[in-house]
Amino acid sequence: MGKMKNMRKNELRIINFEFDDLTELKSEDQKLVLAARQASKKAYAPYSGFHVGAAVLLENGEVITGNNQENSAFTSGLCAERVALFYANARFPEVAVKTLAVTAENGAGLVAGPVKPCGSCRQAMVETEARFHHSIRIILDGKNTIQIFEGVDNLLPFAFKPDSLG
Ligand code: THU
Repeated sequence: MGKMKNMRKNELRIINFEFDDLTELKSEDQKLVLAARQASKKAYAPYSGFHVGAAVLLENGEVITGNNQENSAFTSGLCAERVALFYANARFPEVAVKTLAVTAENGAGLVAGPVKPCGSCRQAMVETEARFHHSIRIILDGKNTIQIFEGVDNLLPFAFKPDSLG
C-alpha cells in the first residue's frame, strides 16, 4: 500500500502456545483433550470420514462433549464444536465456558496438525464469550502439535459481536 494522507496502519498481535505432546499440558487440559478424543469416536460422519470431537469444560467443573453430526443433505449437518457448545449452553445456561478442546481423526487416525475450527464455530465461540463475559481457552489437538489460544480474539479477530449491533 502506497503512502496516503491520514491513513493509519494497524498491526494485530495474535498469540498461541504450542506443545509437541499431550503430556506437556496441565492435567485439567489433558483430561479435556482425552474427553474430546473419546467423543470423536462417536461422531456421525459417514460422508466426510472426518471424525471431530469437542469437549467443553464449564466453570462449575462439568464437562460436556459433542461430535460432528452429518446429514445426507450436507448443509443440515453440524460441527462438533457447536454441538458441544450449544449443548453445554442448553444444559447450563448460567455457567460460563472455561475451556474448549477440539480434536479430529481422518482415515489415518488423529490429524497431524492442530485441527482448525471453521468460521461459524469460531463465531459461536465469540458469542459464548460475550454471553458470559468470560474468555474461553481453546485447545486444538493434533498428533504432532497441540495449540492453545487464550481467548477467541486470537482465533477470530475483527469478529461481529453483540455490541456490533449498535
Ligand atoms: N467439522 C467439525 O466438526 N469441526 C471443525 O472444526 C471442522 C469441520 C466437521 C464438519 C463435517 O462434518 C466434517 O468435519 C468435514 O468438514
